[in-house]
Amino acid sequence: MTRRVVRGAALAAAAAFFASAELRAADLELGRYLATECMTCHGTASATSTIPNIFGLGEGHFVEVIRAYRVKALPNPIMQSIAERLTDEDIAALAAYFQTAKK
Ligand code: HEC
Repeated sequence: MTRRVVRGAALAAAAAFFASAELRAADLELGRYLATECMTCHGTASATSTIPNIFGLGEGHFVEVIRAYRVKALPNPIMQSIAERLTDEDIAALAAYFQTAKK
């Protein structure tokens, strides 16, 4: 009896784990897709350009900055109009993608 309960709990935990891993993969896929638009500018970012490098940017900072552009708390009009079209889900996916993406 106890054994069955333990086994059930282990299965539930495993299911939750795989569900979140799957969600993560979907996020990254969406992020990669949305990122193609960003590459035009950010793909060429270098130490001397005015376009910041966003590869490897921490997820927390990324989300914060894009949301700030979206509500126009940050002044750049290009990034404002780009952020305006992104949903929270898009932003999370892009953040997950860029944190691990290599140029
Ligand atoms: C037309 C060119 C252009 C495109 C396209 C573009 N960006 Fe930007 N981005 C910029 C510029 C220029 C800045 C710097 C703005 C500033 O100085 O405030 C910037 C800043 C940023 C920053 C802030 C970086 C930091 O550390 O402060 C992030 C994050 C960012 N962009 C993400 C994106 C994402 C995600 C996309 C695609 C959905 C994208 N950008 C598309 C030009 C672009």
